[in-house]
Amino acid sequence: MRLIYCCGVVLLLTLFSRVSHGGNILVFPVEGSHWVNMDVLLRALHSKGHNITIVRNSKSWYVEENSTYYHSITVPVERSLGKEVITHLISTVIDFERGALPVTSFFNMAVGMMGTFTEAHRIVSEFASAMFDDQEFLRKLKDSNFDLVLTDPCWGHGIILAKYLNLPLVYNVRWLIAGEAHFSLAPSPLSYIPITGTGNTDKMTFLQRVKNVVMYLIGQTQHHVVVTQTYQKLCEKYLGPNSDFNELSLSADLWLMRVDFVFEYPRPTMPNFVYIGGFQCTPAKALPQQLEDFVQSSGEHGVILMSMGSFVSALPADMTNEIAAAFAKLPQKVIWRHKGDRPANLGNNTLLVDWMPQNDLLGHPKMKLFVAHGGTNGVQEALYHGIPVVGIPLFIDQYDNLMRLKERGGAQILQINSVDKDNFLKAVEEVLNDPLYRMNMQRLSRLHRDQPMKPLDNALFWMEFVMRHKGAAHLRTESYRMPWYSYYSVDVGLFLFGVFLLVLTTVFILMRCLYRTMCKPKVKQE
Ligand SMILES: *[C@@H]1O[C@H](CO)[C@@H](O)[C@H](O)[C@H]1NC(C)=O
Ligand SMILES: *[C@@H]1O[C@H](CO)[C@@H](O)[C@H](O)[C@H]1NC(C)=O
Ligand SMILES: *[C@@H]1O[C@H](CO)[C@@H](O)[C@H](O)[C@H]1NC(C)=O
Repeated sequence: MRLIYCCGVVLLLTLFSRVSHGGNILVFPVEGSHWVNMDVLLRALHSKGHNITIVRNSKSWYVEENSTYYHSITVPVERSLGKEVITHLISTVIDFERGALPVTSFFNMAVGMMGTFTEAHRIVSEFASAMFDDQEFLRKLKDSNFDLVLTDPCWGHGIILAKYLNLPLVYNVRWLIAGEAHFSLAPSPLSYIPITGTGNTDKMTFLQRVKNVVMYLIGQTQHHVVVTQTYQKLCEKYLGPNSDFNELSLSADLWLMRVDFVFEYPRPTMPNFVYIGGFQCTPAKALPQQLEDFVQSSGEHGVILMSMGSFVSALPADMTNEIAAAFAKLPQKVIWRHKGDRPANLGNNTLLVDWMPQNDLLGHPKMKLFVAHGGTNGVQEALYHGIPVVGIPLFIDQYDNLMRLKERGGAQILQINSVDKDNFLKAVEEVLNDPLYRMNMQRLSRLHRDQPMKPLDNALFWMEFVMRHKGAAHLRTESYRMPWYSYYSVDVGLFLFGVFLLVLTTVFILMRCLYRTMCKPKVKQE
């Protein structure tokens, strides 16, 4: 009897845990390095028993159609932000940075980028239109009874679909269209919170603060242009004339922020922000035998790793030759993720690879130095494993990411327009030979790891929380519904100023009347 009872309880418990934990999740991912870290979340969700469905388009570059841990729905599109578009964009930026293009001013660059930026979002909004025009697709989504939409809001399509389906919305986020995500929702005094792209720190001089404000205004203008040209039109067409894209994008239930305050400057935050920076990092696993042999052959000197990230397949040939020559002079072994032509003067200590298990290599005891472009993922991995960095930033946030490490004594930065054999070798040797760089990174690593809960587990907990409670509206501030003049109390200020003026005028008039009645008779008498 007791046995049966126990069995019953166990059965009930398993059933219950199925019901309560096996969520049905709809995902609108973003391509490129954003997919790399979304993928980590999806694998973790799958291993906890959640059912995952991804919406991709027929020209998806990174997101595969078939997978063992997700289902996918493919939406046919005519164009997408494919490899060609991104590669072209990156080589333009590199050329620009190296002064090869006759662009004379910052203003030209800003306007030129604005065009590209808007075009990119237009392509994404075509993808969104293709979804909304496909009745079969929409019916399928509605019938699937999803519990949650997970998206990276640097593209707006997932936000609009989540609203259309009326589902709780969770962000895996560092960027919104307007820029760094905090700025859109959390109070963000521009006096001590640097705008990404300015190269400012949290201690700014007057001129740096001027630059900060100007860059903020440029970002807001870009955001306004992009949103009104693309997503706002979609909202009005498919969600109704009164819907507002900005309001939708700020109304998400939960923001899983890819930010870590060991790395980022401290700043005000919000109750529905959950910090998961470094969630993609894990202790190193064993390397493939061939790679392990190569690493071991470095002996006491150790290994250097170089990668310019998932987007940059080829640097200009003259630059790779300079770098190869510098590497050849070192006693260390070098593993270089490189896709272009083989540099002519490559040393026999350097191994070129197409792909590598970056996290496992960075966690290898023989790893000495990481030469990186400063993308968020790579910088977080270096920080997690405590490996010092020599950075060659290309664009967007990369300089700012590297500068945060440099300021904390863990990195050196080289400007891409001035990299040559000598200064590259000098920077690498300095970071290799001065033990302070490594000690500083190890200290950051210890700080990062000293948390009550691993960032990935934290992310999973909060996503399950949102599914259990069908949203997290109780954590959401009401600020997102407000027009800017209410948010900043400009209307109240004007009103109070009006009242003040009224009182002042009344008092003035009264005084004048009083003065007249008291003084005029005297004048008459005289
Ligand atoms: C998981 O999602 C797929 C695709 O949306 C769906 O066909 C399937 O029925 C779902 N499975 C469960 C157990 O919900
Ligand atoms: C994915 O699987 C489907 C069905 O098994 C198959 O028709 C399709 O070719 C596969 N796609 C890829 C890219 O392997
Ligand atoms: C690499 O090149 C150096 C100098 O050219 C030579 O002394 C060394 O033996 C070579 N090492 C290997 C493993 O071939």
